Amino acid sequence: MGDKIYTGEGGIGHIDEEKAGSSSGGGFLSNIQARYAKVDPSSYLRRPDETGRQYWSRRLISLKPYELLAAEYANTELRKYLNAFQLVFLGIGAIIGTGIFVLSGQAAAQNAGPAVTVSFIVAAIASGFAAMSYSELASMIPVSGSAYTYAYATMGEFMAWTLGWDLVLEYMIGSATVGVGWSGYFKTFFEVAFNVHFGDSWTTPPIYWNEDPAYIAYSEGSYFNVPGFVIILLVTILLCVGIRQASWVNTVIVIIKLLVVFIFIFALCGFVDTGNYDPYVPPNTSGNWHFFGTPGIFAAASTVFFSYIGFDSVTTAAMEAKNPRRDLPIGIMGSLVVTTLMYIGFCTVMTGAVHYSELNHPAPPTIAILAVEERTGRSFKWLNIVVALGALAGLTSVLLVQMLAQARVFYSMAKDGLLPQIFTKVHPKFKTPYVATIIVGLITSILSALLPVDLLGNMTSVGTLFAFFIVHCGVVVLRITRPDVDRWFKIPGPSYTWIVFPFIGGAICILLIAVAEVSTIWRLFVWMGIGWIIYFSYGIRKSRLHRDPIGRFAEVHAQQLDTKEEPEYAVQDYDYPSRT
Ligand code: ALA
Repeated sequence: MGDKIYTGEGGIGHIDEEKAGSSSGGGFLSNIQARYAKVDPSSYLRRPDETGRQYWSRRLISLKPYELLAAEYANTELRKYLNAFQLVFLGIGAIIGTGIFVLSGQAAAQNAGPAVTVSFIVAAIASGFAAMSYSELASMIPVSGSAYTYAYATMGEFMAWTLGWDLVLEYMIGSATVGVGWSGYFKTFFEVAFNVHFGDSWTTPPIYWNEDPAYIAYSEGSYFNVPGFVIILLVTILLCVGIRQASWVNTVIVIIKLLVVFIFIFALCGFVDTGNYDPYVPPNTSGNWHFFGTPGIFAAASTVFFSYIGFDSVTTAAMEAKNPRRDLPIGIMGSLVVTTLMYIGFCTVMTGAVHYSELNHPAPPTIAILAVEERTGRSFKWLNIVVALGALAGLTSVLLVQMLAQARVFYSMAKDGLLPQIFTKVHPKFKTPYVATIIVGLITSILSALLPVDLLGNMTSVGTLFAFFIVHCGVVVLRITRPDVDRWFKIPGPSYTWIVFPFIGGAICILLIAVAEVSTIWRLFVWMGIGWIIYFSYGIRKSRLHRDPIGRFAEVHAQQLDTKEEPEYAVQDYDYPSRT
């Protein structure tokens, strides 16, 4: 086979020289590549000459080899059902939500004016860089842990755990926040459609968070966010019943929300008052850089970046995709392109229908519709109902995909032993990770019902940006260390010019994190601190790659023999040292 055995810091590694062309030159690069190459399972065990400190430190940075990940996809118990079209819809399902239906108006009124459309384009470019990096890794590592898995393959177990814990902010805390927003639109929908008014007592959480000065307080007269609680439980049931059903419902919801955005654009485009575009970029307000002018466009871009969050969750469905190496990149890029076009149309019409200064409202499209009604004397009540319905549909699919993603990330972490094994249970009939889904659903619904999720909600963007940053780094690491692995999608560019994309993408992530509130960054550290306590008291001891590496590799190998498929990871006849 031309296998070469390396002995070094990271243990013994094997590189197929025929494929790993650039590794044959020897020297520094070869040593690095050896660390990332096919590893001998026994290299995870404690070596006789190793002190305890050396061994435990090595565990923190030990990598999960690519071959093991590929074999996990081949052996998954989950149902491989999703095609490229369904993955694009999954992406759109996660993307279009609060960002466009709520934040777009606030960003226009406070930061960018009509140029909020430009902010959406800037945010799309930033997301596009991340989408390219996600696509390359997804086309290479089709496992459902998303950034968690990519970090495990490139930076080691500690970083993987950190990322997995960070993704909870994006997916679970994000879902709880969306659950609160869902209640708001639920009330709006009943008001505009049926003139039925619900009070706050059973539609808002009883606890709230005050930012300045910071304190948590009980909100008089509010008891429980019932609509948010119920919708999250309903979504949980759907996710347990099957990926087929969940994907089908998601597709229907996405069609509804795309239609609603189309209807909004076409119904109002004939009523745009071009005077509202003048000035297109309102002059910067002295004293604060992020109020209007060119800096305001970037400040708004950092706010509306939230609107694009979600395309990455496509990668968490990798193990349920029929052809993930090809279809995941299509799902990621396709959903991003479609939503960017929709957002540009939506914002152009909204800021043309009403003066931007009026748009600081929780339901900005409604304000645009009212302004047109006033100007023309025509009733657009039907459009208000349609938009409220679209927003409700939009938020429901965001919930659906984010909770699906969270359950898959927990499933992957538990498969690696970093979380209790109960999270790995797959329903024998439905083929879904139903225990992980139920646990995620229960926690999310209770958070959404009771807690001031805005306390954690604004950490969602920062947490996501951190994940994006690590994914950019992961692409670079794997390009250099595993040139031998096939990638269906590769970031374009001859020689080393491709590196510009992850480099700029990573820089944008750092920039956007840097402009976040200092208190948000502090909270991120507190969150990470809690995660690290859990890791050092549980995960590091239970990690399956270290507790029983030989068994873990052999188990994958045995399953491959069962399925009579050509093994992707051929466990060789190692002379295993006795386990200590
Ligand atoms: N992109 C999603 C939204 O806007 C998170 O709600």
